[in-house]
Order: sequence, then C-alpha cells, then structure tokens
Amino acid sequence: MVMFSQRISQQLQQRQQAGLSRQLQPVTQLNNGELIDQQQQRLVNFSSNDYLGLAQDPELQQAWQLGIAKFGCGSGASPLVTGFSSAHADLEAQLCEWLGFERAILFSSGFSANQAMLFGLMQAGDVLIQDKLNHASLMEAGSLCAAEMQRFKHNDIAHLEQRLPSQDNKPCLVVTEGVFSMDGDQARLSAIESVCHQHQAWLAVDDAHGIGVLGDNGTGSCAAAGIKPNILVVTFGKAFGLSGAAILCDRNTGDYLTQFARHHVYSTAIPPSQAYALSHAVKMIQTQQWRRDKLNDLNECYADQCQKLAGYVATKTPIKPFIYGSVNKVMLASEKLKQAGFWVGAIRPPTVAQNSARLRITLTANHSQAQVQQLAQCLIQLAQERSILQTSDMSFKSAACIDAACTDALCSKETATNELGIRGGM
Ligand SMILES: Cc1ncc(COP(=O)(O)O)c(C=O)c1O
Repeated sequence: MVMFSQRISQQLQQRQQAGLSRQLQPVTQLNNGELIDQQQQRLVNFSSNDYLGLAQDPELQQAWQLGIAKFGCGSGASPLVTGFSSAHADLEAQLCEWLGFERAILFSSGFSANQAMLFGLMQAGDVLIQDKLNHASLMEAGSLCAAEMQRFKHNDIAHLEQRLPSQDNKPCLVVTEGVFSMDGDQARLSAIESVCHQHQAWLAVDDAHGIGVLGDNGTGSCAAAGIKPNILVVTFGKAFGLSGAAILCDRNTGDYLTQFARHHVYSTAIPPSQAYALSHAVKMIQTQQWRRDKLNDLNECYADQCQKLAGYVATKTPIKPFIYGSVNKVMLASEKLKQAGFWVGAIRPPTVAQNSARLRITLTANHSQAQVQQLAQCLIQLAQERSILQTSDMSFKSAACIDAACTDALCSKETATNELGIRGGM
C-alpha cells in the first residue's frame, strides 16, 4: 500500500512541477455558444465538439424527455441480457440505412467502441497498421491487443504501402481517423482505400469528428470521399450532441462483434431513452442542413480573419489548430483569451507532439460571425504582444521527458521505430 501511495504522490508532483496538471472545471453550457464558468464569468466556448450545436438544443432535450417518458431511465442490463429495447433496435436500423451498412452495434462511448473493435478483431499473428496521429483509444487498444501493431506516417500513402504485408496471407487491418481530432485535417481516404484493396487489407475508419459535419446529409468523411470502409466507427458525443458510439459493418462481422466484443457483451446498454434521443439527433442531422451551411460560413469568416497570422492552419473542418509550439506560450495565450471572454483549450504534449502545443479552436453552428470575428481580433492582438514571445520554456523541459517515457511504454509492442506520441482526444 505504501508503495502505491508513494508512487501516486510522486507522479502527481512531477506532473504539477511540469506545469501539465489539468483540472476539472464545472461549467454550465448555454445554447448560444457560451458557457458560464466557476467564477460565474460568461465565456464564448471555442473548445466544444458540439459542432452542430445540438447538445443544448431544446428540440433534442424534448426528444430525450419523451424517451424517458416512454422507456424510463436506465436499460438495466447488458444488451444480450435484457438491456436491448426497441429504441436501440430502431437506432441501429436507422444508422444502417443512413450510412449504408448491414449492421450497427451500439456502445456507451467511442473509446469502448474502438477498444471493442481492436480487441475483438485482432488475433496473434495479425497485422494492425494505424496512422501515427490516431486517437489514444485506438493507439492504446492497438498496443494492448494480440496483433503486431505498426504505425504509418500521418496520411503518408507510400509509407502505408511499405508497411502493408505483400504476399503472405496474414489478416491485416488499417485504421485511420476520418478527421484528425487535434489537427482538423482529413485522411486521404480514397488513396488509403485503394492501397488496402490492392493488399487485401481491411480498412476501419473512426469518423468521430466527420460524421454529421461532412458529406451529404452529414453522412461523414467516407461518404464525402466516395468510399466504404469495412468498418466505420461513429461517435455520438460530438455532432450528435449526446454520447455513445456505434460500429458499422457487414452482417457477419456484426454477428461476430455481438458475440465476441467484450465491451458490448459485458457492459450495461445505453439507456433506451438515450437511444431514442439519438434517433432524433440523426433526423436533425439529416434534415437541418442549415447547421452545416452555418459552419461553412464560420469557417470562411475565421480563414478571412486569421489566415495571415503565424500559427494559423487552414482546415476544411470546424477544428482549427492554432500552433504556438511552446507550452508556456500556449498557456499564456489561453489565459489571455479567457480574460477577453473566450474559452479556448490549450493542447500540450503528450496529447500532441513536442513543440507543437496549440490552441484547439473549434467552431460550432451555435457561434455567430461576430463571435468568430472577436476571437480573431484577440488572436491578432496576442500575436502582436511581445510578452508571449519572451516567455521562457525552460520549466517545461522535464515534463516533456516524463510524458515521452509514458508514451514509449504504452507503445512498446510497436515494431516500427519512430518518435511518435499517443494522442488524446477531445
Ligand atoms: C477520434 C476519436 N475517436 C474516439 C474518441 C472517443 O470517443 P468518446 O468520447 O465517445 O469516448 C474520441 C474522443 O474524443 C476521438 O476524438
């Protein structure tokens, strides 16, 4: 017991000293792109993944309330016992029809869906190849599953091709995100699908940040790229405004995951009222095109205002990284933005690579052009302030070493030798 206590205290202290401790901060979300923080300050929230602005929408709230009136609160059991209801079945059918797959399996989070997919599918001797910037849930599952995991350079098709087994008959799964959570860029899905096809590898796409936002009627990154992966993971905590996830696949794979995916078999099903609300969210995503149109307008507005600034990164998605490089600079920028009335998260290593600390600005359909313009003005002003440039990074060096070591430990099963880190998600 003493050893655990000592180790826990030591690691907390190291993190604290490195300036990398994170705090839980209770906030109240409003339905106009703002939140109220602990100090009762109203801030414009540019850190949410609620891209379509559904999380606080009265129509969706009403749907969930109706779901509770119809089905009660909890599901009471795992899906294969008595936790599966007509609301779950309807949602699965609706997802299949909308996204063009034979089966959809529901999970309580994207994290567990990704773990279920990799633990369920991969066996010893199989090959798993992931984009190096994939989310922590995929990387962690990949390093813990029975297969040999390799990573290919971000969006680098030639490197992926080198990694793909040539002649042998090993089952091989390639995994990429559709939209990368920390960079907002899009996977080269058409090229990836094509090399997978040539090498008889399966392709899985985690479209947590693309579903609802991209493609006709919000059908996501794969539909927008004109491809159909073998497996599609969609999560409900972002554009759907709720939480949970689904794996979409063919009938056989769905039957297999229903039997063998442990996160499905041994975990309480999401509440039926939530499944009911999710079905309503799907309808809102399909029919309320104005939300995606608004996002596109805000995208343009942000680009017009910020594209000349150092640190600006052009993206076609609502995720707008603004790179400061050093941890001190980004922390200071985030603090100054807060003083100016904006909540913008600072993302630091090990969530992103060393020297790429950034603001992760996210736009939502709840923002107004005026809010985006005001944020841009603050970014411009910050760029002009010399105080940020003069800030020293020295105190953060040791932290980088600690986190790099953690990352290496997590990836110890990886065969490729590289400098890569594990990404957390938002
Ligand atoms: C790409 C990606 N996949 C999976 C997840 C995990 O999803 P969830 O938050 O539903 O657990 C995230 C979370 O941010 C993510 O960004």
